[in-house]
Amino acid sequence: MECIIITIDGASSTGKSSLAKAIAKHYGFKHIDSGAMYRALTFYAQDYNLLSDHKFDVETLIARLPTIDIDFTKKDSIMLNGQIIEDEVRSMEVSNKVSLVAKEPQFRQFMVAKQRQLGAKGNVVMDGRDIGSVVFPNATIKFFLEASMEVRTNRRYAELIEKGEPVSIGEVQANIAKRDYIDSNRDDSPLIVPENAIVLSNDKEGMSGLFALATAEIDKRLL
Ligand code: CDP
Repeated sequence: MECIIITIDGASSTGKSSLAKAIAKHYGFKHIDSGAMYRALTFYAQDYNLLSDHKFDVETLIARLPTIDIDFTKKDSIMLNGQIIEDEVRSMEVSNKVSLVAKEPQFRQFMVAKQRQLGAKGNVVMDGRDIGSVVFPNATIKFFLEASMEVRTNRRYAELIEKGEPVSIGEVQANIAKRDYIDSNRDDSPLIVPENAIVLSNDKEGMSGLFALATAEIDKRLL
C-alpha cells in the first residue's frame, strides 16, 4: 500500500493540531504533533535547570540528547522518557521558551530524525513548522494553515483558561507574536509555505469548513 503522509504547517495557534487530529481520526491515521516534541525538550531543559529566564545551557542539553527519549503513546499523547507530559508541555512557561530551543540546529536535527522515523511507515498526519518543507518534502499532500492574530490569540487564550492556567489575553498575544518572529526568522528551517502546499484560512472557514476542504483535497489524491 502507498505510504501516505499528510503535512500541516503554519504559525502558532492557527488550528493545525485540531485539523490534524480530525483528519487522522477520519482516515484512521496516526497524528504526530511535532510542536509537542520541541515542547517536551523544552520542558526537560527547564525541569533539569538548564533553561530559565537567566540562562540556557545549550551544550549540556546537546550532551544529554542521547539519554532523552521523546515519543507518543498509542493514543498520540506526548511522552518524555516514558512519562506522559501532555499537560506540562502546554504551559505558558514552556511556550515562553520553546522557540529558543527550536532555533538550535542540533535540536532540530535530533527532532527531524525522530519525526522521519515516526512517519516512516506512512498513514500519518504530522503538523508543525517545517514538516512539508524539510521533514517530508515529498509528502502525499501538504497544507499550510493561516489565521488572523485575533483568531489565534482568542483560540489559545480560551484553551489555556479552560485548562485553569492564569494568563491574560495580552500575555498570550505577546507570546504568539514573539514566537512568530523567532520561528520565521531563524536560519535553520524557518516557517515558510512549503512548495506545493495548499493554503487554507481558518478565518474564512472555521474548523468544520477547513475539515471539509482538506478531506476533499485528500480524497482527490487518494482515489
Ligand atoms: O501549539 P502552537 O501552534 O502554539 O505551537 P507548537 O506547534 O506546539 O510549536 C511550539 C514551537 O515549537 C513553535 O513555536 C516552534 O518554535 C517549534 N516548532 C518548530 O520549530 N518546528 C516544528 N516542526 C514544530 C514546532
